[in-house]
Amino acid sequence: MHLGMRATAVLWLLGAANFAVAAPTSSYTNTTIPPSTHIPTPTAYTPSSAVFRTACAQVSASYASALASYSSVAATNTSAVAPTSVPVRPRELWDCLYSIPINVDLSIEFVKQVSKYLKFQSTIAYLAKPPEGSLQDPVDILGSLETLAKKVASGEIAHHIIFEYTIIKLLQRAHDGHLGLRFNSGALADWQGPFPLVSVSVDGVAKPKVYVQSDVRRLGTDAPYVTRIDGYEVQAWLAEWADFGSSQSPDARYNSVFARYDPPSDGSFYNLYTWYPGKNSISITFSNSSTYEYDFKAFATWTPAMNWTGINDGTDFYKKIVVNPNFFNETATTAVAAKRWEQPTPAPAVERVVEKLRKRANATTTSTLAPTSTGEPEKETPLVLYNAPFMKHRVGPYVQDLNQIFGGYFLNDTLQTAVIDISSFAAEDEEAAKQAEGFRAAVTAFFDEVRRRKSQKVIIDVRGNGGGLVDLGFELYKQLFPAAPAKSYYRIRAHGASQIYATASEKIATDENVEQLIQYAYSDGKNSTLSTEEVTTVFTELSRGFSRQNVLDVKGNKLKNLDSWIGGVLSPRVNDSVSAVVQTNLDLEFDSEISGFGLLKNFTETPQPFQIPDILLLSDGTCASTCTIFAELLKREQPGISTIVVGGRPNNAPSAHVGGTHGSRILYFSNLLDATNNVLATIPPDSVEKQRLYDLVLPYKLPLGISIGAINFRDAIRPEDETQTPLQFKLDPADCRLYYTETVFRDSINLWGELAELKWGTKSNFTGCAVGGLQKGQGSSGAVPDDPDAQNISDWVMQGLGGL
Ligand SMILES: *[C@@H]1O[C@H](CO)[C@@H](O)[C@H](O)[C@H]1NC(C)=O
Ligand SMILES: *[C@@H]1O[C@H](CO)[C@@H](O)[C@H](O)[C@H]1NC(C)=O
Ligand SMILES: *[C@@H]1O[C@H](CO)[C@@H](O)[C@H](O)[C@H]1NC(C)=O
Ligand SMILES: *[C@@H]1O[C@H](CO)[C@@H](O)[C@H](O)[C@H]1NC(C)=O
Ligand SMILES: *[C@@H]1O[C@H](CO)[C@@H](O)[C@H](O)[C@H]1NC(C)=O
Ligand SMILES: *[C@@H]1O[C@H](CO)[C@@H](O)[C@H](O)[C@H]1NC(C)=O
Ligand SMILES: *[C@@H]1O[C@H](CO)[C@@H](O)[C@H](O)[C@H]1NC(C)=O
Ligand SMILES: *[C@@H]1O[C@H](CO)[C@@H](O)[C@H](O)[C@H]1NC(C)=O
Ligand SMILES: *[C@@H]1O[C@H](CO)[C@@H](O)[C@H](O)[C@H]1NC(C)=O
Ligand SMILES: *[C@@H]1O[C@H](CO)[C@@H](O)[C@H](O)[C@H]1NC(C)=O
Ligand SMILES: *[C@@H]1O[C@H](CO)[C@@H](O)[C@H](O)[C@H]1NC(C)=O
Ligand SMILES: *[C@@H]1O[C@H](CO)[C@@H](O)[C@H](O)[C@H]1NC(C)=O
Repeated sequence: MHLGMRATAVLWLLGAANFAVAAPTSSYTNTTIPPSTHIPTPTAYTPSSAVFRTACAQVSASYASALASYSSVAATNTSAVAPTSVPVRPRELWDCLYSIPINVDLSIEFVKQVSKYLKFQSTIAYLAKPPEGSLQDPVDILGSLETLAKKVASGEIAHHIIFEYTIIKLLQRAHDGHLGLRFNSGALADWQGPFPLVSVSVDGVAKPKVYVQSDVRRLGTDAPYVTRIDGYEVQAWLAEWADFGSSQSPDARYNSVFARYDPPSDGSFYNLYTWYPGKNSISITFSNSSTYEYDFKAFATWTPAMNWTGINDGTDFYKKIVVNPNFFNETATTAVAAKRWEQPTPAPAVERVVEKLRKRANATTTSTLAPTSTGEPEKETPLVLYNAPFMKHRVGPYVQDLNQIFGGYFLNDTLQTAVIDISSFAAEDEEAAKQAEGFRAAVTAFFDEVRRRKSQKVIIDVRGNGGGLVDLGFELYKQLFPAAPAKSYYRIRAHGASQIYATASEKIATDENVEQLIQYAYSDGKNSTLSTEEVTTVFTELSRGFSRQNVLDVKGNKLKNLDSWIGGVLSPRVNDSVSAVVQTNLDLEFDSEISGFGLLKNFTETPQPFQIPDILLLSDGTCASTCTIFAELLKREQPGISTIVVGGRPNNAPSAHVGGTHGSRILYFSNLLDATNNVLATIPPDSVEKQRLYDLVLPYKLPLGISIGAINFRDAIRPEDETQTPLQFKLDPADCRLYYTETVFRDSINLWGELAELKWGTKSNFTGCAVGGLQKGQGSSGAVPDDPDAQNISDWVMQGLGGL
């Protein structure tokens, strides 16, 4: 599943809070924000060199003493828990990082090398010259990096940590969750705000106010609300703070500032985008006129590979962490326990590929387990569970897959509304087994039950969905619309390096080899001229994303040669060299079987479970990556599906329902480095000129350690769009917008019940969306079937809510 087709927004970059989109319609509020001057940033405070001698030593001592006291307790108490972080003083931790010396030559070399990776970023030319009406500010990434190198050379930037911060901040300005970089220093330091905030409206329609989360829990919306932060009007301050977020929609960025119940997040006011806030405390003024100063928190953190032992000053930090040769190895942090620092696995092992291909021959076998009331597992690990706990919900879903990706509910309302709760398209544990099989089985089981109960309405809840396995997005779409094609169009940059990668792929993934690979897969390994090792090599090549075999032209035909795909055409608006617009070849998708393709081709005969007017897509704007592929399929191929977005800035303006990165595939720096190694092995330079070309354009190892780096590889494009503008810059507002109410923070089931009422129930003529309405696409009668046994939704929503 790491091969190729993963599309996950890079949540780790900014903690759990990121995403955003800008909206192109004129009805959007113009929210261009002046450069940050009010909000805390690392550079708000410049340490004096007097502290350089002591700061790192003190942090290191705190670390050592926490470990020592753990050891002494653990000697007598076997249930003592090992610490994973140690509180330190916020400013002291920054003093230490600030004391890391800069290496001018390596920093300049880093800029040169990292620019080669960043040239794969699909939108790089669009970011420098954003389409009119998109709320993206221009950001010239490559030009800014050149400027940075000059500043390092001239001595204007004289501290390594400022070098790091400048790069991170630069990439963040693209508001693309697939684009980012994390240096090793991020593994050793973390900061935290005083508490999570929430934004809550009294009824979902009135403009929300900002509260301390725990105050709302105790007092509801009667609690004093926040009026000022550090003396600035609260919304002005938050608008600037939210601008650090990685969504393209400003409303999605705004949502990420706040705590969220489902899927859970503390929000960026609390996690501070993992950066030093520039000071030790923050002042908050409440509606009751009280002003308090609250402390920030800071933590020394570590991983199995990197810790604070022996770091007594900035130079130690530099040697042990910044340029430690162990960390030049792009895969060296794979074993790191902290998930967000992990690298994806490199090329797959032979066994894994062979197993995958063999399984393909058996893919038609799906789970036929009967529901059990207790959710007791069967002898073999079942692919699906019935009536078992799911995430934070008070009531478990009717059915879920073994990895808790998909939850299928039936509400206890008069409509038997079905709800699909899908806050990610991948398991929390990336390595979890049977993600696709379990997902397909759970969706199948749920829709079988939908048909049995004659349930007709469905809410699809993608709030917080930052993406995952691309196959799962296609799978859910196909199960919803079995007879419909699933066309997903994209384009990549056709620059020198991607053309060289494609040329190497062409040597290995030849038409003949791919034909034999398919033979191998369909005959369970028995009928192929390729050896197992050769099969693995071809498979790996397909998964890189640079093979012509992966793509079909917009009409669905195979491309005859490389030139017709990646020969390079100029994009209409920005004069960038890009590939042809192509679509994913889903029949050649070996990571997992997708209903309606390959061996499951005849799935198209399955009846469609819901009609378009009976589908409501619910988001909070942070739909990103695979989620946007799914949402785009719904929107483009099935026009008329109603959309609703919750939360956002208190501006009563339309808001995008898909507001995270619209890129349809991420590539990690390690994937690109791997592709470079493949080029050197497959088509080694045979002349001085070629060697020079390779050195100029191919990404090589970076000279400073990073924990992770990624770019957005594929732009989603609508072929009918003459301007071929990446969808990142084309945001569509949801039909209806509501603000968060207090009940949503108690349980999502409350929100679902209210939305079913709003869309199909007794409130279906309700014009009370904060913005827009759900009338569009309303093909259903709105009539509530007569069912005396069913509960009134309003009653039900109000019942049984035992506190927060
Ligand atoms: C947005 O506001 C800025 C500053 O007032 C102005 O320069 C710009 O033209 C406005 N853009 C739009 C699309 O109205
Ligand atoms: C042992 O450690 C556990 C976990 O920290 C703690 O709950 C427990 O009270 C400790 N027992 C003793 C005897 O200190
Ligand atoms: C004002 O509200 C804040 C936040 O709830 C609370 O901590 C504080 O005690 C209140 N002040 C007074 C004077 O009631
Ligand atoms: C800390 O890192 C050092 C190497 O710098 C290693 O030898 C040591 O085992 C690590 N300590 C812990 C507790 O992981
Ligand atoms: C890179 O790291 C991996 C995993 O820790 C290790 O197996 C490999 O030997 C390392 N390679 C180099 C060149 O250090
Ligand atoms: C596929 O099914 C066949 C026949 O049922 C069986 O022999 C084979 O082991 C299965 N392969 C896998 C990978 O499960
Ligand atoms: C619906 O009601 C039944 C019976 O009261 C209960 O077991 C189930 O958990 C309820 N389901 C939901 C989604 O509230
Ligand atoms: C084996 O492969 C060849 C082509 O490679 C094909 O013509 C033939 O039908 C295959 N046989 C079986 C039994 O699948
Ligand atoms: C477009 O880019 C090419 C290659 O960089 C350059 O030669 C040409 O002048 C550019 N055209 C415009 C209109 O900017
Ligand atoms: C698919 O085809 C197989 C074999 O022809 C048949 O047994 C199966 O019922 C079909 N499935 C559907 C969903 O039509
Ligand atoms: C909604 O309005 C239509 C037309 O005014 C009316 O026929 C229908 O009964 C109303 N539905 C509900 C649930 O009130
Ligand atoms: C549902 O219950 C609410 C509150 O008790 C009541 O106002 C409403 O009329 C009821 N609706 C129906 C359709 O019975």
